[in-house]
Amino acid sequence: MTRPIALHGKQTSLLIESDGTNAPLWLYWGPRLAGALESGPDLAAQPWARGFTLDQPLRFPLFAGYGMGWFGRSAIEAHRDGRDFAFAPDRVDLAQDAHALTIVLDDSIAQIGLRLVLALDPHTDVLSFRSTVTNRANRPLQVQWLASAVLPLPPQADRVRYYAGRHASEFEEQEDRLGKATWLRENRHGITSHDCFPGAVVATPATTESGGLTFAAQLAWSGNHCQAIEWLDDGRRQWQLGVALSPGELQLAPGASHEAPEVLATCSLRGWQGTARNFHQALRQRVTWPGGAMKPRPVHLNTWEGCYFDHDEASLIELADRAAALGIERFVLDDGWFHRRDDDTSSLGDWWPDERKYPRGLRPLADHVVARGMEFGLWIEPEMVNPDSDLFRAHPDWALQLAGRPQQLSRNQLVLDLTNPAVGDYLFDTIGRAIADLPLSYLKWDHNRDLVAAGDASGRPAYRRQVLAFYALLERFRAAFPGVEIESCAGGGGRIDAGVLSRVHRFWASDCIDAQSRLSIQRGFLQFFPPELMGSHVGAQMAHTTGRSQPLDFRAAVACQGHFGVELDIGKLDQDDTGRLRDWIAFYKDWRHLLHGDVWNGSLPDGQVWHGAGSADEWLLFVYRTAPTTQRYMPDLPLRFVDEAADYAVTRIGPGRGKADPTRIAGTWLHHAGLPTPPMKAERVAIFHGRRA
Ligand code: GLA
Repeated sequence: MTRPIALHGKQTSLLIESDGTNAPLWLYWGPRLAGALESGPDLAAQPWARGFTLDQPLRFPLFAGYGMGWFGRSAIEAHRDGRDFAFAPDRVDLAQDAHALTIVLDDSIAQIGLRLVLALDPHTDVLSFRSTVTNRANRPLQVQWLASAVLPLPPQADRVRYYAGRHASEFEEQEDRLGKATWLRENRHGITSHDCFPGAVVATPATTESGGLTFAAQLAWSGNHCQAIEWLDDGRRQWQLGVALSPGELQLAPGASHEAPEVLATCSLRGWQGTARNFHQALRQRVTWPGGAMKPRPVHLNTWEGCYFDHDEASLIELADRAAALGIERFVLDDGWFHRRDDDTSSLGDWWPDERKYPRGLRPLADHVVARGMEFGLWIEPEMVNPDSDLFRAHPDWALQLAGRPQQLSRNQLVLDLTNPAVGDYLFDTIGRAIADLPLSYLKWDHNRDLVAAGDASGRPAYRRQVLAFYALLERFRAAFPGVEIESCAGGGGRIDAGVLSRVHRFWASDCIDAQSRLSIQRGFLQFFPPELMGSHVGAQMAHTTGRSQPLDFRAAVACQGHFGVELDIGKLDQDDTGRLRDWIAFYKDWRHLLHGDVWNGSLPDGQVWHGAGSADEWLLFVYRTAPTTQRYMPDLPLRFVDEAADYAVTRIGPGRGKADPTRIAGTWLHHAGLPTPPMKAERVAIFHGRRA
């Protein structure tokens, strides 16, 4: 006798079938099922098309083991010197509470235990899936692959939206049709990577921006990862996500356990936007804010693209004065402040203020910033070392390396071996000393290269343990400096994931601040992460990474989608642009409570992109024209997020626009026919405010 076991969310349910002995099976993940479901379809007993099949074939296991009648990808691949390679539980223990299910699978022959915990959040419909493997034998167990999660996709799921990219071009949206070949994405960069985001959204033919079924997942991990979607014999597909292990990387001693990082997954009935909303709501609960709650996201000034390495105390004090006059609320001193750091060829590792640029240390500048009413923040890149540094000269063995192999430089730097406790202690002590007496509110924590030949002192692969040691170091800083917010940056968006999210407060989405490029980068970011965590800055008129120029209003309006900042030499702005930037900063402050609410986005034909933020009660809508129009009349923009039953007072607003009277428009009209949009030149924006009338 089998027993269906259900977990219900707000709009979704999942069902598992177990007979208490054999591998539990995946029955269902999709729209919410009503009723108690005492009797399920009993998949294990269903007939099948015979002919060259096992007499007892195995339908879709919740967590397939190798070799015991399952011909698809295994969720666990492990062995003891080539033996004990098969896995099939002969004992299954299930424990269920209202929203979670704990399943313990034991294989008494392989002497391997698995513990799976599935928790479906009833408020957000986000499923948390965790897996742990235990070596129950008295010999070591070599683990090659342990899926963090196995997710079932129904036969109608036919395409997957995912993200490729590179430095300064993150979140390049891709879409593949799912066929019978396995769809596979793998990242071996050692960090989350710019190239391969550890998640995706699977859609059905009916999926649109705001409607239709989607299935999405993301791995909460900041290192190597792998995800695969495999077609199964019944037309469904299994989706596995997990840490990509290097050869020999994971060896479990007798009695030892290994917990894989969590997967967050969600099924939505409201298309891409519903998927984003579920993730945003769930992830917001995971950010731990100094003081217990998020305060309105302060306007940043970041010195990087305005100053680069060219620091001196007097001009930075002058910059701070200008910033304060514009209404900026947080001044972040980027790269270039520490010992002999004049360019990117030296000094990483030597974390004390440059005696030439800051003869009095950083304190006078930081005090000045605070006296002007702003918070003070500082850039660091703890995990890195330049060969030209005092640190490397003293401890060349502290870099990750493999004996006899060349050490490959990237941006002239190497990666420190954080698995060596002495390295973590050095970084904590040295950086801690540099910031201890500063009135510091913020750290921008960077990581500007990939990991190559990442061997520890014993020559073993350190990739996975490096990520864990990074998390531990971050947590050590958080504990020692509880009032400090932290930004995750890795050459822009190389370390954006749900694993680091619970330890930081902001992501630098990309080193590319070109507003056109940012529209798509930010759209990708917002598919998974909430807007208040997305660092988005107004850059110089000519974007440093692309060479394109855009008007200030367009750049600022794109920066308004996230946590707003300024990253240009504000001293070089003419009077007109200075005034406009001041107005945009005031605009962002007026509206950040809506900007950091729910968000919706999409595009119209003829070169328009839109972004809405707030709630159905009150919202802001940005309509961006990215290319010149080819039409005489602009298309209307249907707003699916408004309440069809309500009337709305809609006003065109924006910095520099006088007060206008609102127009009353029926929600049903906005929802179906759409909001008329104005003709505009390219790289212009129209902003609307809507409120329930
Ligand atoms: C990386 C970051 C930039 C800046 C530089 C400093 O590229 O993404 O924002 O901090 O490093 O070197």
